[in-house]
Amino acid sequence: MRLELGCLVLWIQLLPWGPGSFADANFTVVQSPSEVGVIRGDNATLNCTFSRGLSPDKGAVSWSRGGPGGEAAVPLRTRFALAYPDTFLRRGEGTLAITNVSLEDAGKYVCRVLLWGTGEAQGNGTQLRVYARPSHPVIFLQFHPKPESKWTLVCRTAGFYPPPARLTWYRGSVHLLPTQPLQECGDPTGPLQASTTLDLPSSGPRATYTCQVGHPSLLVPLSTDYTYDPQHQEPPSLIAGLNLLKIALLGALSLGVGLAGPVGGLA
Ligand SMILES: *[C@@H]1O[C@H](CO)[C@@H](O)[C@H](O)[C@H]1NC(C)=O
Ligand SMILES: *[C@@H]1O[C@H](CO)[C@@H](O)[C@H](O)[C@H]1NC(C)=O
Ligand SMILES: *[C@@H]1O[C@H](CO)[C@@H](O)[C@H](O)[C@H]1NC(C)=O
Ligand SMILES: *[C@@H]1O[C@H](CO)[C@@H](O)[C@H](O)[C@H]1NC(C)=O
Ligand SMILES: *[C@@H]1O[C@H](CO)[C@@H](O)[C@H](O)[C@H]1NC(C)=O
Repeated sequence: MRLELGCLVLWIQLLPWGPGSFADANFTVVQSPSEVGVIRGDNATLNCTFSRGLSPDKGAVSWSRGGPGGEAAVPLRTRFALAYPDTFLRRGEGTLAITNVSLEDAGKYVCRVLLWGTGEAQGNGTQLRVYARPSHPVIFLQFHPKPESKWTLVCRTAGFYPPPARLTWYRGSVHLLPTQPLQECGDPTGPLQASTTLDLPSSGPRATYTCQVGHPSLLVPLSTDYTYDPQHQEPPSLIAGLNLLKIALLGALSLGVGLAGPVGGLA
């Protein structure tokens, strides 16, 4: 069995854009902090304050978002709302609240305040970064009959954003280099999956291997163990081959990975 390789990851950088405050108003708009990171599904608060809060002026607050596709107004409905819709002018607040943040919400948000008869000012923008957590890593055993028969471990994770996720192998506390470097698959603007492969020794004592996944969305890495004993690992019988096939197919179904080429375990 071979994993479908050849996946290409394009990481489109959001271009910083736009100048700072307008000069035509005698008040300022402050967006702080300038960068907010949030996990997909959580809520985000993008602060915007302006220095004319206590005045009785009438005015309006609007938000726009810039991303790879250009800048667009943010409609203040459904998941997007002003945090203080009724009192924003009095409080000097145009803070934006976003609920259930999705990956598509990422971008640079600019707060604009218009006070009638006074002018318009805009903040320097807040970069919203949205992260998705990787799944717990899954390890499975693979048999390669050719060119020389060998066993390998494959470790997989899915669902993370943005790339990259760090996949590392350990035997005990010893860091091992992967045989096949990280493969990342999927639509580069959506949740991604990654896998890495480790060759197993054909002899030696029983050992426990750990695959660890690190990602900026995780406070602590996720890890999974696999114990392998070269003494008790016969070349696969038909039954073991079928089990391998079943595991591979389950993995493929759950992760949406295509299987390419013949199933080595049956050879
Ligand atoms: C906005 O950016 C400009 C230029 O980088 C800087 O001079 C200004 O102090 C910033 N304004 C705020 C409110 O942070
Ligand atoms: C997000 O906000 C909504 C509405 O205010 C609230 O019901 C929900 O519990 C919040 N979710 C989180 C993860 O804080
Ligand atoms: C927004 O501003 C308030 C006070 O001005 C601050 O306590 C809060 O941490 C800020 N929000 C975020 C998301 O940083
Ligand atoms: C959050 O949005 C996702 C789609 O992005 C949706 O599937 C999910 O049901 C929403 N969750 C809540 C609590 O509204
Ligand atoms: C800002 O301008 C408005 C009208 O142009 C004026 O009424 C107000 O006093 C000014 N405020 C300050 C702080 O200069």
